[in-house]
Amino acid sequence: MSSLAIGIDIGGTGIKGALVDVDAGELVSDRVKLPTPKGGTPSDIVETVVELVDSLGEEGADLRIGVTFPAVVLHGRTMSAANVSKEWIGLEAEALFEKALGRPIHFVNDADAAGYAEVSYGAAQGKDGLVILTTLGTGIGSALIYRGVLVPNSELGHLQVDGRDAETRASFAAKERGRLTFKTWAKRLQRYYSHVEMLFSPDLFIVGGGVSKHHEEFLPLLDLRTPIVPAELRNNAGILGAAALARLETVQAVERP
Ligand code: BGC
Repeated sequence: MSSLAIGIDIGGTGIKGALVDVDAGELVSDRVKLPTPKGGTPSDIVETVVELVDSLGEEGADLRIGVTFPAVVLHGRTMSAANVSKEWIGLEAEALFEKALGRPIHFVNDADAAGYAEVSYGAAQGKDGLVILTTLGTGIGSALIYRGVLVPNSELGHLQVDGRDAETRASFAAKERGRLTFKTWAKRLQRYYSHVEMLFSPDLFIVGGGVSKHHEEFLPLLDLRTPIVPAELRNNAGILGAAALARLETVQAVERP
């Protein structure tokens, strides 16, 4: 079986994709990025994903595809829509993508895909116990991984902290909206991560999202008993995780009696 798969990472501002060698945990094509259509409606996003897959060329024509989405994904349905059109709520989204792309896909929450990638190829490789990855972007995404097994749809960005939805205060978008310095933002992150730490007592926190490349500006300001490290795969985590999960599903389907 080919070790190649396609990973597509749908976000609030951009949709990224590439061909991935899943065994090596590496992108083997250029990363293509298209802007997320304004309003984020299902038909516009599906159309953009088809365009992106086509742009990967002939080599991607028969490959299995993994697609991430910034919402709760339950049995192929999108059950929430924090930063995309409300039309996604309750939609058979996986089937919609499969119809448009003409092949089966693996459909997964964006942070779960990133967490799976960090366990497979990045900062959580070989880590025992409970790892919590959070992505600080338009919202806050989370992935819970216990002894290498992903517990999907944890949605820790929507914990209530100080009576507010956590991501409205502590996401990277909240930092940008409020023009907060790293120091001021770190105070909000401190409240957030202390709360998550109190609830879950993880063995490791991993911090992803584009801003994690500036980790030196804010991670040292946090005082937690849990080690907290930047994600290693940065912007490629969603793509790598989606492709790896798509391939895993194929392998399991073949092995199942
Ligand atoms: C959504 C999550 C998503 C996260 C990051 C949150 O608003 O509820 O499902 O993982 O944003 O995109």
